[in-house]
Amino acid sequence: MPLPDSFIQELKMRADIVDVVSDYVHFNRSGRNLVCLCPFHSEKTPSFRIYPETGSFYCFGCGAGGEVITFIRKIENLDYIEAVKLLADRVGLPMPENSYDDGIAKLRTRIFEANREAARFFYAQLYSEVGKSALNYLRNRGLSEHTIKHFGLGYSPNNRYALVDYLKSKGFNDHEIVSANLAYQNKNGKISDRFYDRVMFPIIDLRGNVIAFGGRIMGDAKPKYLNTSDTLVFKKSDNIFSLNFAKNSDKKHLILAEGYMDVIALHQAGFTEAVATLGTALTSEQAMLMKRYVDELVVCYDADEAGQKAAQRAIGLLRQAGINIKILTVPDGKDPDEFIKKHGENGAARFKQLLENSGNDVEYRLQKIKQTCDMNSPSDRVKYLTEAAKLLATLDSKIEQEVYALKLSEEVNVQKEIVIQQVNKLSRRKNNEYQKRQFREIQDNMSARSDKINPQKSGKLRAAKAEEAIIAYLVYNPDMVRIITEMLPPEKIITDFNRRVYVCITTRLLNGLGAMPIDIASEFSPDENASIAAMLAIYQREAATIEAAEEYIKTILSENDKLNMSNNEKTKQEDILEYMKKLKEIKK
Ligand code: GTP
Ligand code: MN
Repeated sequence: MPLPDSFIQELKMRADIVDVVSDYVHFNRSGRNLVCLCPFHSEKTPSFRIYPETGSFYCFGCGAGGEVITFIRKIENLDYIEAVKLLADRVGLPMPENSYDDGIAKLRTRIFEANREAARFFYAQLYSEVGKSALNYLRNRGLSEHTIKHFGLGYSPNNRYALVDYLKSKGFNDHEIVSANLAYQNKNGKISDRFYDRVMFPIIDLRGNVIAFGGRIMGDAKPKYLNTSDTLVFKKSDNIFSLNFAKNSDKKHLILAEGYMDVIALHQAGFTEAVATLGTALTSEQAMLMKRYVDELVVCYDADEAGQKAAQRAIGLLRQAGINIKILTVPDGKDPDEFIKKHGENGAARFKQLLENSGNDVEYRLQKIKQTCDMNSPSDRVKYLTEAAKLLATLDSKIEQEVYALKLSEEVNVQKEIVIQQVNKLSRRKNNEYQKRQFREIQDNMSARSDKINPQKSGKLRAAKAEEAIIAYLVYNPDMVRIITEMLPPEKIITDFNRRVYVCITTRLLNGLGAMPIDIASEFSPDENASIAAMLAIYQREAATIEAAEEYIKTILSENDKLNMSNNEKTKQEDILEYMKKLKEIKK
């Protein structure tokens, strides 16, 4: 059911896009618009713009765009109604009644509820007869009752229907339970528990919802950990375990570990700033998410080869997201959990030492290069210097480059100027390549994206561009709607998507309603809203005067004539063919 227009108007007034976005990013003013680093992709030069006049935003780098509701949908991973609710809460506007019977939103709510019930159930099992061995397992791993409760750990019984039966008794149906990925459908059509005989770790999002689970087997069977697959409320690659707790820590950094147990052991030892990815390689979405809370991250991956490889990859992503990185290496090939446990009472103090001694990522990576070189061999020293210079060339800060160049020159005993020269040369080359690549990527992405939303555009480029300019003109000049629609009736718009947008905007304006992006957002998908925001961003200036608008209209009309002409030709040809066919039949 659509929300009443009066409600959206009130929301539009109160939920200012600049205020809302500034909760998630820092920005600078550039003319009347605001520019900042995009919160939806990692970049070094800002290409995310906010347009207060139209209440919209658009990123020229990744194509994210829309108005304030679409922004919240994207950044909080919500659907339309949920995003509106979050915004309404924020500005103290009550939601209109009956605005909640939307199907998907309802299912999402039910999934949250089922997950919460499941977490309660698993926790209770841990303290019942069947959970004894699981509770012992956790105690043996050194967890206190307080820690178990704090993280809401639990046990899924060794019975394929334990949770299913419980959730059904609480009023959940098969579809809801399966949609939460708490059960799956059997061959016989019955549903049975996804998790059984495992220690359970609830995964909680930043608003306190249980969104998924990880389950660890207590023996040696495989898989060691089983996680919830992606659902309507959970995307593994977007979430961070324990960020819900860590975001409240007063530290200026986060510690990024590899596993659930590492994080839990760290919290128990007082390092409440510890988080982990969910058993997958770090993604740029996760990097962006952490960047919202801290500027520095201590990467604390396992010392084995896989862990070190993962660390190298993570460093690249985190650097790109503009996060300062330190590397903490746990000695003797242990993971943080084992390290803390091994040192018993001194565990926390010993880890604190490691934390204080953790070096930044440049030192770490230089060290890694050095390990492969024999510093007594001249050719290896050259190799070290060459590889190191390549690394320094990737740093954005000149000061950082200088500092390490000096260190390097002393280490290898060559003049500092020579090292710096080499670094500068590589860094210039790299910057040129970077800029060229970025420019190409933006161009490619832009056309690929608009093709997806408006597939007719590439074939009708001249017309489609003019249509977009007219749409932008109308949004910026709503008073001109009568004049424009007289000159350009909707049926003259050639591409289907642009016609839909044009009809939506002109109908609203002709009926005295608003046609800003937020007013029409519910009519379009997030990607479509992004496309509309792109039109407004791109044709902001070009579509400023009525003369320019007239030119665009002329273009559309003439493209339309051409199209009709060729259609007429085709019709004529078809008629002739048809006639000849008939003639043949008569002759027979
Ligand atoms: P413990 O053995 O319980 O101490 O776990 P760990 O954290 O030391 O395990 P490990 O270093 O092997 O794995 C790190 C993280 O990768 C775990 O916390 C899981 O999130 C994930 N992981 C490990 N094994 C599996 C698996 O078999 N399947 C999946 N999906 N994830 C796994
Ligand atoms: Mn471990």
